[in-house]
Amino acid sequence: MKHKPAMSREEKDAVIRDNFIKLRRDLQRQALKWESRPFAIDLATNNLCNLRCIMCSPNERQMPQSMSGEDLKRICEQVLPTATVLAPSVGGEPFLSDMDMIVEQCRKYLVEMNVITNGTLLNLEKYKRMQDVVRVLHISFDSHIKEIYERIRVGANYEQVVGAIRDVCGEAAKDGTEILLSAVMLKDNVRHLPEYVNFAADIGVHSIEIQKMLHTVPDAEQMDAFGNIPEDEIRDIYAKALDVAARRGLNIYSYLCGFEIVLHNPPRAQKYRYPEVYEALKDRPPMMPAYYVRINPDGQVLPCCMSDHPGVMGNILEQPFEKVWNGKAYRRLRKQLFTGKFHRACRDCEWRIHFKAAKIEKAYAEVRNPKHIDRLEFYEISE
Ligand SMILES: C[S@@+](CC[C@H](N)C(=O)[O-])C[C@H]1O[C@@H](n2cnc3c(N)ncnc32)[C@H](O)[C@@H]1O
Ligand code: SF4
Repeated sequence: MKHKPAMSREEKDAVIRDNFIKLRRDLQRQALKWESRPFAIDLATNNLCNLRCIMCSPNERQMPQSMSGEDLKRICEQVLPTATVLAPSVGGEPFLSDMDMIVEQCRKYLVEMNVITNGTLLNLEKYKRMQDVVRVLHISFDSHIKEIYERIRVGANYEQVVGAIRDVCGEAAKDGTEILLSAVMLKDNVRHLPEYVNFAADIGVHSIEIQKMLHTVPDAEQMDAFGNIPEDEIRDIYAKALDVAARRGLNIYSYLCGFEIVLHNPPRAQKYRYPEVYEALKDRPPMMPAYYVRINPDGQVLPCCMSDHPGVMGNILEQPFEKVWNGKAYRRLRKQLFTGKFHRACRDCEWRIHFKAAKIEKAYAEVRNPKHIDRLEFYEISE
């Protein structure tokens, strides 16, 4: 049974606008205590996964955690009224969480979902149960070649996942959800990228995200495309993939690769209700702690999604969120960000380094907004 939303659409729009204005003010004033609240939330009821992908670190899942339905509701009540988007994963597989309960909370607080899944537990029926709140369904699918896919995504069944993607694409063609396939660039799959884009177009996918491999497992260097394949060749492969995407009408995104590609191929642009709020800030560390929180199933609140994050900010199951958000740890982190005296994790963050590099290396299409690359923008947003 679907519950009634806790607020009207007009009320939600007003809350979001007000929160964004507060955020700009917090940033301009370089305040340590903030009036605004985060609007992008990662939250799941457990941190489990059913696969053992070769490039993914199991560290985050070493201690299995889970959250009760009551705790989930208590948390949502505090953080969802001002949120625009929720991703139901915290380093595991979201379809192992209680997705129905999370969807229900998103419906209640008019929050849109960005689901990042390995696709192995996905089917049409599950998609239909969330279709009214999901805006982007991101399926991590590293190769269209069965042997390579199953070698990377240990435990997954290629035919089952491809079948689910096809089914969901058919339904999403009617409802406007963006179906995105992503691939981590490894030495084993990078050369097939142009055919991968063709394959995605054939089965009805709208977007591709090319992910640079983060080095979080011991033998990462041997697996990574970068360092094992000449960079000129990778550039050439990317250019070919981009041509295929342009021809076939797919969006293609790529970050952290030194040469950034963002090609939007309308009409299938992302359909978030508040794109301007999200776009103005997203992907621009050290901005992430300004608008994002990750809440682990044990209640821990983290300021960014990286496994090497600048520390736990508090526990929402032990304190009201307000006390965490404006507590000592957050105030210290904001001071570090405003003064440029970064915590080691922020200083070495690949995203931050990337956005500086992108200033010089912008290949193809539009880099999102070069104006924001400099970290000074962190407190120079004007009303
Ligand atoms: C950690 S997973 C969690 C969600 C879900 N289990 C999945 O695989 O989609 C989130 C994303 O990180 C990507 N990923 C995993 N290992 C990575 C690595 N070493 N570098 C970059 N991205 C990675 C996955 O492909 C996926 O798109
Ligand atoms: S990438 Fe996703 S599916 Fe693969 S092991 Fe990591 S969390 Fe699990």
